[in-house]
Amino acid sequence: MVKVNLKINILRKEIAEIFKKFGLNKKHSSISANAIINAELVGAYGHGLSRLKMYCDRISKKLINPKPRIKTIKISQSISLIDADHSIGFVAADIGIKKAIENAKKTGIGLVAVKNSNHYGLSGYYAEQAIKKNLITMIYTNGPPSVAPHGAFKSLFGTNPICFGTPTNSKIPFIFDTSISKINRGKIRVAARNNKKIPKDVALDKFGKPTTNAKKALQGVQLPIAGFRGSGLAWMVDILSGVLTGGNHAGKVRDPFDDFSGPQNMGHLFITFKTNLFVKNYNSRINDNIKRVKKLPRIKGIKEIMYPGQNKYKRFKMNSKKEIKITEIIKKDLEILKN
Ligand SMILES: NC(=O)c1ccc[n+]([C@@H]2O[C@H](COP(=O)([O-])OP(=O)(O)OC[C@H]3O[C@@H](n4cnc5c(N)ncnc54)[C@H](O)[C@@H]3O)[C@@H](O)[C@H]2O)c1
Repeated sequence: MVKVNLKINILRKEIAEIFKKFGLNKKHSSISANAIINAELVGAYGHGLSRLKMYCDRISKKLINPKPRIKTIKISQSISLIDADHSIGFVAADIGIKKAIENAKKTGIGLVAVKNSNHYGLSGYYAEQAIKKNLITMIYTNGPPSVAPHGAFKSLFGTNPICFGTPTNSKIPFIFDTSISKINRGKIRVAARNNKKIPKDVALDKFGKPTTNAKKALQGVQLPIAGFRGSGLAWMVDILSGVLTGGNHAGKVRDPFDDFSGPQNMGHLFITFKTNLFVKNYNSRINDNIKRVKKLPRIKGIKEIMYPGQNKYKRFKMNSKKEIKITEIIKKDLEILKN
């Protein structure tokens, strides 16, 4: 596959300019460009540039609102509801996490529901904001049907990521941020676009047969992690981010790539709280906790027992020093969108 190198800041500017061309204001364009660049830098290619054309297509078709009138409704000092007015998900989530941080700083805990939103990328990206303010956070979002509930042979749940983050008293935050599917859908889409295979045992084709063909997997169903347990987690996320918030749920979130029959109306839930609610010495306790795990004897071939988030942090640091490599397909997308 031919790849082209681009300087990070030039690419960031180009993406922001594209969003401005599609009607987003300067601030919203910059928030969205930063989120896409971050996804590339942590290596989450299925949530970065590979989605730029999709966002712009949905703006053109009036399914993402480039000029949303986002309303924040105060329910209590701790609790807020945000009606994102079909804004691009990056902006809705940025407002959501900032409100949750503000509420937690005032009262100890912040609970913010977001409705009428769209795909926001990586949950961990928003978790970082809360952790920087010394807060623990839990973040949920639902997604379009891609995973079959346990016992069903039809997709209904999204890959519904579960995200938990905490400060660690070190510069590397603990961020456990995982899809509940065996593989995230973005990776299958990237494989499909580049004619690559996907791993075994992560998806079935539309006839219920295991497949490693990415295009067939997109027409079939993805499998949840750990059978009925993963299916249960997916359902929990659908309830928390869809049923509870007023967003779409139970398979009604539209696929952003394939379904242009209406807006996604995705829901998100942001929970943030202070680390010192029950103990005064959280920092030393979390330090001790992580140290104990990392000191355990290791399986052959494992150099280091890592905590969630460590690998992404390393990748981000390493990639931030380099140029971003884009495929010919992405290069073409950028050229079409710029002109
Ligand atoms: N917005 C959406 O609709 C949506 C849907 C699905 C996924 N996503 C995002 O996609 C991203 C990728 O999800 P994923 O499921 O591919 O994640 P992943 O499989 O890459 O990682 C899952 C978690 O495991 C941790 N981890 C990985 N290797 C580890 C190791 N060796 N030791 C310890 N911990 C380790 C990671 O730090 C991460 O917290 C997430 O940021 C998620 O929020 C978004």
